Amino acid sequence: MVRPVSLKGANVNSIDLRTDIPGPVSLRWAERHHMAVPRGTQPVAPVFIARAEGAVLYDVDGNSFLDFAGGIGCMNVGHCAPPLREAAATQLERFTHLCFAVTPYQTYVRLAEELNRRTPGRFSKKTLLVNTGAEAVENAVKIARVYTGRPALIGFEDAFHGRTLLAMSLTSKVHPYKEGFGPFAPEIYRIPYGYCYRCSYSRTYPGCDIRCAHALEDFFRRSVDAANVAAIIVEPVLGEGGFVAAPQEFFQALREICTKYGILLIADEVQTGFGRTGTLFACEQLDLEPDLILCGKSLAGGLPLAAVTGRAEIMDAAAPGGLGGTYVGNPVACESALAVLRMFDEQQLARRAGQIGDWILQRTQAWKQDFPLVGDMRGRGAMRAFELVRDPDTREPAKEEVAAITRYCWQHGLIVLSAGTYGNVIRLLVPLVITDDQLEEGFAVLEAALESVCTPTVASAQN
Ligand SMILES: Cc1ncc(COP(=O)(O)O)c(C=O)c1O
Repeated sequence: MVRPVSLKGANVNSIDLRTDIPGPVSLRWAERHHMAVPRGTQPVAPVFIARAEGAVLYDVDGNSFLDFAGGIGCMNVGHCAPPLREAAATQLERFTHLCFAVTPYQTYVRLAEELNRRTPGRFSKKTLLVNTGAEAVENAVKIARVYTGRPALIGFEDAFHGRTLLAMSLTSKVHPYKEGFGPFAPEIYRIPYGYCYRCSYSRTYPGCDIRCAHALEDFFRRSVDAANVAAIIVEPVLGEGGFVAAPQEFFQALREICTKYGILLIADEVQTGFGRTGTLFACEQLDLEPDLILCGKSLAGGLPLAAVTGRAEIMDAAAPGGLGGTYVGNPVACESALAVLRMFDEQQLARRAGQIGDWILQRTQAWKQDFPLVGDMRGRGAMRAFELVRDPDTREPAKEEVAAITRYCWQHGLIVLSAGTYGNVIRLLVPLVITDDQLEEGFAVLEAALESVCTPTVASAQN
């Protein structure tokens, strides 16, 4: 574990390399990083990792960190999982790259079959493999446009879909994802998400008649003709947007509206996907059958791979040669993904995600009472977050406090990430192979971090 540091008086928005970095080797590399790499890639925790195993990272100075970030939700099977290493190594011996568009290979087709079978939707499906979540979004849009012959797309406030031009245009949060990067792609419209804690219509769920979704009918009159809309793209739980889990009725309403107007429904499960919410896909819990479903991140346990799976007739709309890319569906990544699926089956990792979620709920049940900053606690399964606010009535976002907490955490051996449009959410993306003891160890640090920025309530001070 790294040395404890006091946050009192610290400027949480800037990292002082000389005093903050917990070791001389990381410090040297942080300086080299600063000189060699653009500042736009700034890390959350400037510690250089030498190796990782399960839910633990070891840095170049010999410090260890519990990993509650999982490389932003990519390490659901844990770091260096032996079955994944074995599968990747075996494929490395066979061949590393051919380009699926030149000479195909079995592992791509096998993975496509698995995803067709495992994704929600009782209809015939096909799968396209790509490299990243953003690429999955781009391709889903291409496919939706060519199938429907319509140009427009509807996304949501607080959504995140990636950093390429089209994905960034669909992304809501301006700073830092869009600032200065325009002009953006045209024909993109945005409506409020089912974010009940900050309802755009000042209503309260239940009893709000899911106004946010039904407002679409009016939107089709005021902003864009439904007949011009190719697709609505939605995250079943907002990822970067702060782990907001909209009510099931929100998705049912979207499904009905899409079906009514011939609009395709795209579920972006890049962050929710692969078991994090307690089922392989969050849509399963929502009883939602999207036309296209996207996955990435934990799909190949840290190797770059993402997928678009959808109704066969929609996926076939693009002409031969219209979809692809040099590296898409890399064979080493495909073998790793097949190993990930086997691990999910054998170790019941989706079920474990549900247990982790329950464990967190239990462990944090007093937090709202004990820490006045904790305004909302939410999520699905192991995808859990805490939204911090300075005042429970005004809900003023506590962004600086969240920055202080994430910093306190990495300085005390725990890596956690912030999220949310206001940067005031702490989100947890623990590897699903984490043990209960490791969870407890991490939550003790998180609690100490909260204590360091919170004034205790009168009730808990008396206890
Ligand atoms: C919901 C969602 N979609 C798309 C992306 C983009 O994925 P990538 O960073 O692999 O391009 C992300 C990444 O965080 C995401 O959370």
